[in-house]
Amino acid sequence: MLEGKVAVVTGGSRGIGAAICKLLGKNGANIAFLYAGNTQKAEETQNTLEGMGIKAKGYQCNVADAAQVAGVIKQIVSDFGGIHILVNNAGITKDKLIPMMKVEDFDSVVDTNLKGAFYTIKSVYPLFLKQKSGKIINISSVSGLMGNAGQANYSASKAGLVGLTKSVAKELASRGVCCNAIAPGFIATDMTETFTGNEDIKNAIPMKRFGQAEDVAKLVLFLASDASDYITGEVIRIDGGMAM
Ligand code: NAI
Repeated sequence: MLEGKVAVVTGGSRGIGAAICKLLGKNGANIAFLYAGNTQKAEETQNTLEGMGIKAKGYQCNVADAAQVAGVIKQIVSDFGGIHILVNNAGITKDKLIPMMKVEDFDSVVDTNLKGAFYTIKSVYPLFLKQKSGKIINISSVSGLMGNAGQANYSASKAGLVGLTKSVAKELASRGVCCNAIAPGFIATDMTETFTGNEDIKNAIPMKRFGQAEDVAKLVLFLASDASDYITGEVIRIDGGMAM
């Protein structure tokens, strides 16, 4: 399905990002993933991917740092010979009600979740323009669509990703480049491990269960493949019906 393609996945060492790396790789893509700081975990992920017969390499890069992102994208092009798919998955939470939320907590979440995606998109933009093709997939959240008490920073960053997605889609639609966003609900990963036993949350989900990282990966595969070539600027919820 993705033979000969190179996919860049930010935050690819664990959770949803690692599931995306595995599924895109299993479907033929070569994988360059970015990770924040846990080199041991990144090596484990790289070994797992290579053990599956996937060409893969992890790159330490703080997506909130524009210069680091520009440098790493250049390096990936040199190592892999090109980039065809970009998945902006890296994200953090620093949840607090607004009176307790420090300005730095707001900034760091927006810097990572929203500006990080802008930096990667800016770095691949000339490449995608030149090759007249490319798939950009931004991992937003239902928090960005509905808002969430205690997540002013996170919701704002994820809503910002929706605006970024639609603007990029409009800029690049006539150039053969698609840009879409995915808005997951509760997915069982490290990020949500403190909520997995919470029955109130489960009851608020029509399907009465959390999603799995692999569920999100399957949607990314669809948006990364030519099966979705006429879809751009779209935001697709994957939330067991929670935000409908
Ligand atoms: P996670 O916490 O397990 O993984 C996040 C990944 O982002 C990690 O690999 C981490 O190293 C990377 N990362 C964080 N800051 C970074 C930085 N400055 N530079 C580079 N990489 C950085 O989280 P999970 O659950 O896998 O989430 C992945 C994405 O999905 C995030 O954007 C998150 O906001 C989003 N999401 C997750 C939901 C969930 O229920 N788990 C729901 C909705 C959205």
